[in-house]
Amino acid sequence: MTDKTPVLEMRNITKLYPGVRALDGVSLTVHAGEIHALLGENGAGKSTLMKVLAGATSKDSGDILLDGSIVHIDSPLKAMSLGISIIYQEFNLAPFLSAGENIYLGREPQLVPGIVNFRKLYRDAQEQLNMLGVTIDAHTPVKNLSIAQQQMVEIAKATSRDVKIIIMDEPSATLTDHEIKALFVLMKRLKERGVAIIYISHRLEEITEICDTATIMRDGKHITTRPVKTLTREDIVKLMVGRDLTDAIPKVVAPLGEIALSVKGLTRKGVIDNVSFNIRHGEIVGLAGLVGSGRTETARVIFGADKMDSGEISIDGKPVKIDSPSDAIGLGIGFVTEDRKSQGLVLSMEIRKNTSKANLQSISSGGFLQTKKEKLVAEEYRNKLAIRTPSVEQLVRNLSGGNQQKVVLSQWLFRGSRIMIFDEPTRGIDVGAKSEIYRIMNNLVADGVAILMISSELPEVLGMSDRILVMHEGHLTGELSREEATQEKIMQLATGGN
Ligand SMILES: Nc1ncnc2c1ncn2[C@@H]1O[C@H](COP(=O)(O)OP(=O)(O)OP(=O)(O)O)[C@@H](O)[C@H]1O
Ligand SMILES: [Mg+2]
Repeated sequence: MTDKTPVLEMRNITKLYPGVRALDGVSLTVHAGEIHALLGENGAGKSTLMKVLAGATSKDSGDILLDGSIVHIDSPLKAMSLGISIIYQEFNLAPFLSAGENIYLGREPQLVPGIVNFRKLYRDAQEQLNMLGVTIDAHTPVKNLSIAQQQMVEIAKATSRDVKIIIMDEPSATLTDHEIKALFVLMKRLKERGVAIIYISHRLEEITEICDTATIMRDGKHITTRPVKTLTREDIVKLMVGRDLTDAIPKVVAPLGEIALSVKGLTRKGVIDNVSFNIRHGEIVGLAGLVGSGRTETARVIFGADKMDSGEISIDGKPVKIDSPSDAIGLGIGFVTEDRKSQGLVLSMEIRKNTSKANLQSISSGGFLQTKKEKLVAEEYRNKLAIRTPSVEQLVRNLSGGNQQKVVLSQWLFRGSRIMIFDEPTRGIDVGAKSEIYRIMNNLVADGVAILMISSELPEVLGMSDRILVMHEGHLTGELSREEATQEKIMQLATGGN
């Protein structure tokens, strides 16, 4: 393998942002037919390195070689023409066009100039999809496809060109286990065709399953590149964070208080049916279940983001009426959403404003916002949560994924919510920051906050919950105490058994 010219060599790549050395002399070598993991903590520089390669951002110095020759990648179009494709988490597909039209968008086959040869377009598109082993009809509008299927269309779009390198930046974060398996099958097919894949993920168990080689980055630097076979999970974690880190979940059981939130007969037709439970002050209740079982929907109804058809909600023993998120916020409920991009944050605003936006009155005086106070608050949370950024004036858009999640959390912590709903709180969060988030949850319950934690990661549910509720197809199918809960019991309830 080593005597072959690598398909990609990035040498000494440097990229500076104001106050941040995002890339500090990083080198990366990738061979054809290799699945190469790119690993590192939130903010390590993984996405930045890939954006440089994909022509989405410029580098300050360093060289990029493809098949041994230096290339100049100054735009996404140039990268594409050189055989480099990047699959972002937010796809670039046109929702109202069909899968086939998207695959050939901008380079449709023509009957005569200006007239699209649809028959050929659909024939070729279908062939691309079939070759990947994907069962999608090329005529289906993209808006009718699941996230996983849209990702497949993105990949077909890449393979329909002469692609050499496909970059996948956290592709699995929004997929179900079943969909991830399908993605892995597809990745293996691409590998057999000699395509090189650069794969970014915070789910370390995926790395050992699918990747051949791993490059680990820390603080904008290249730390090591090794065959995955030679690395244990502990090795990877240690190399990523630069110190020993126990993977253990540091649960602290807090004394339980009165019932904080009580939900009775919550129903939203076709989505959740007759859901009832209580959460006490000082308690973490885990809500487990498969994707689509109604967990997020339950949370959305409690938060007033979706209407209920029937049911009752009480807070501290008093019935309340929640018709909108602002009602819920006013009643002391905070919601750390799974989909932080669309529900939790205003990406075009600074960290400072995002931190305070759910609690403006406490930093205003006489109706005027006190920017100085706002800044102090934002700085306090930046330190508490170790948000990696030189300044709270940074736009949230410019933060790495995991650090954006911490800003969502700051917002609710500052709001002082007494009931917190966490929906997949550690998705896209690196191993080090994960234990920080667990520590924050421990502090919250010690202060008497009641927590509802939705999570698909069973070790997290088992590790952090005092009690576990399980949902299946919109129903609560069971409740397990911390002592009796096991992965097997949860899975049994989650699949409808008992
Ligand atoms: N447009 C930008 N302006 C300013 N700083 C930026 C910009 N883009 C990235 N950064 C900074 O560069 C550093 C590297 O960010 P990057 O997104 O590459 O991290 P990452 O390794 O992908 O992290 P994650 O695992 O959280 O996605 C971070 O400190 C980030 O805040
Ligand atoms: Mg990233």
